[in-house]
Amino acid sequence: MIAIGCDHGGYELKKEIMKHLTERGIPFKDMGCDSAASCDYPVYAKAVAEEVSGGDCELGILICGTGIGMSMAANKVDGIRAAACSDCFSAKATKEHNNANILCLGARTLGAGLALMLVDTFIDTPFSEDERHIRRISMFS
Ligand code: RB5
Repeated sequence: MIAIGCDHGGYELKKEIMKHLTERGIPFKDMGCDSAASCDYPVYAKAVAEEVSGGDCELGILICGTGIGMSMAANKVDGIRAAACSDCFSAKATKEHNNANILCLGARTLGAGLALMLVDTFIDTPFSEDERHIRRISMFS
């Protein structure tokens, strides 16, 4: 299960991503927001991060204008490794090396085509399970 959330800046892109997840048969939980009206992105970052840190969802996707504010806010929640990505190499590497559990996207910096490729790369890439990466991640806290 994937938890997905956005602010007003990411609302339209979130709809594209949810359509894509539905087409791929990947279950998701929409944590809001529910319109393009101005709202506060940390509310939705926390909601998605808590779904992931609590174990109800394996992964999360957060979308705001840049992806940066969402990643900053989500990373305040224990156990969250949120990565703002705008290229497929990073989306792949952050799963393989950092075992990232939330992908953050910028709707004002990415086209929908690239955003969907980033989502697929993030979902489809497994953590490497390499000892050195496990060790480094354990040093985060
Ligand atoms: C909202 O205007 C914008 O600040 C937000 O979507 C995001 O880009 C924050 O990092």
